[in-house]
Amino acid sequence: MHPQITVLDTGGQYTHLIARRVRELGVFADVQPSDTPAADLATRKGIIISGGPASVCAPGSPDIDPKMLALGTPVLGICYGHQLLAKHLGGRVLKGERGEYGIAHLNVTCQDALWNGVEHSQIWMSHFDTVASVPAGFRVTGSTEISGVAAMSDPGRKLFGIQFHPEVVHTHAGMRILENFVFDICGASKDWDISRRVPAVEEQIRAVARDRNIFFFVSGGVDSTVAYTLCLRALGPDRVYGIYVDTGLMRKGETELVRSIFQELGATHFLVDSAEDEFLAALDGLQDPEQKRCAIGEEFVRVQERILMTEHFLDGHWVLGQGTIYPDTIESGGTAKADLIKTHHNRVAGVQALIDSGRIIEPLTPFYKDEVREIGRELGISTKFLSRHPFPGPGLAIRCLCSEVEAQVTETPNGFLLPLRSVGVQGDARSYRNVLCLARNPALEDIRNIATALINSSPDINRVVALCGSNWPLASMRSFESSITKKRLDLLREADAIVRSFCTETGFEEQVWQFPVVLLPIGTNEARESIVLRPINSLDGMTADVVLMEQQMLQQLTTRLLQTREIAAVLYDLTSKPPGTIEWE
Ligand code: XMP
Repeated sequence: MHPQITVLDTGGQYTHLIARRVRELGVFADVQPSDTPAADLATRKGIIISGGPASVCAPGSPDIDPKMLALGTPVLGICYGHQLLAKHLGGRVLKGERGEYGIAHLNVTCQDALWNGVEHSQIWMSHFDTVASVPAGFRVTGSTEISGVAAMSDPGRKLFGIQFHPEVVHTHAGMRILENFVFDICGASKDWDISRRVPAVEEQIRAVARDRNIFFFVSGGVDSTVAYTLCLRALGPDRVYGIYVDTGLMRKGETELVRSIFQELGATHFLVDSAEDEFLAALDGLQDPEQKRCAIGEEFVRVQERILMTEHFLDGHWVLGQGTIYPDTIESGGTAKADLIKTHHNRVAGVQALIDSGRIIEPLTPFYKDEVREIGRELGISTKFLSRHPFPGPGLAIRCLCSEVEAQVTETPNGFLLPLRSVGVQGDARSYRNVLCLARNPALEDIRNIATALINSSPDINRVVALCGSNWPLASMRSFESSITKKRLDLLREADAIVRSFCTETGFEEQVWQFPVVLLPIGTNEARESIVLRPINSLDGMTADVVLMEQQMLQQLTTRLLQTREIAAVLYDLTSKPPGTIEWE
């Protein structure tokens, strides 16, 4: 399918969002590198130059082929793109002094085709440099309190620049502005409806795969399952293989569930590789969280290398499929562990060779999570599966805490100090600190409200939990020297299954984005383990709020968990992210 609008990518995190917004208007748009030759853009109805983090004043910053500005094709420069227009056409761009970030208000200073139906309204700004004077032939069409040239245009040459981001929801008239550009200025016609998205992706898969087959290391997560299904539809079940590595670190029933889902999807080449023994051996005796993660990453590499050899996936007849989605491809400012785990996979020499030689298909890279879910629904994957909570790659290993020492729980003026370290995010670094446990009076809500203050005022803790119930007094408990064993994993699997079925029964699962259940080696000689409940709400995992469970419900759940002989106490994590992380290590 031929794009009517092309978005030139200058490295901005919203580039794909711009293309998505144009497609939402019913016009097919694609994304191309910023320096695409003008000749390749000649057939477009319009070109949008995206925003980007660089400075147009810096040498070597992303650029465009300036000949495209003389094609007669309408061009809209957004943010960095706006500054590039000014720079190429003889305006002046100044290095900013204080920048303008977040919400601002647009003053429409001059009527313009872009402003049809747009008045003084809220916009979203994120820039440091500014256009100080417009090129000859241009006029200023909008300003803000800080930016004299928030928008400019040369209607004769159909060139438009806006300093703000019309593609984000915080720019209230953003869609109207894009609509004015795409239809009134470019004269594009509707040629895209959402129902053509899937066939278009399938066409692309066939074009990349040619006569080769595709294999996936599937995780049972939403992204790899949807990507796999698209390939299955594009090439048929005989040409698409899915390999699921059972690490032994999965939740109860997970392997069976994944198997049945792939069966339902019509996969005939779905292999389960049972690698539990290998992973448990790699983890044997390890207690340090970073060492555990590393051992798992390395084991993934070994297992994948073994599979690549035994299945002959490197013989030139295969392309690697991956469920990478758009946010995975951008740099994220916080903890990009999803990327990190993918780096582990990418480090597999064979996988790297496939990537280096272009033998890779990632059909979901243009899409955001909500679009992936929509596509999944269109493909007939059940809503229940598509709304699964995220689950970390290293699995239950990072929820099964280990201890190098045996130490007593100690009472402090603020509460009980648990002799265990969990991870948090304080500043840029991950910090391992102790956990403070408060008795459950006052109420959970009150503890949650003071948790951050307690953490900020005590340098030795980064997490606050409340005691929901225990079979022994907290003061009599201690930590036990422990590492990952099948027995401990089975106990955690059982507790996690109890929590999950309780949440399904009560509907609590709908209130949470993720609900880690964590096993701590803290208890008494009779029952050496405790369980932490960590229900949180989040948009993208970068920040998180604690979700509180109603008192009576929590009591019921606690009672159920405490019926398990090995469990000494049930705790509720009341730490938001930051300063805590969602997972405990
Ligand atoms: P944190 O614990 O950093 O987690 O607040 C944020 C999100 O990332 C998930 N997570 C991981 N996912 N491999 C993954 O694939 C990992 O090593 C990993 N560690 C954390 C976590 O479950 C949460 O959704």
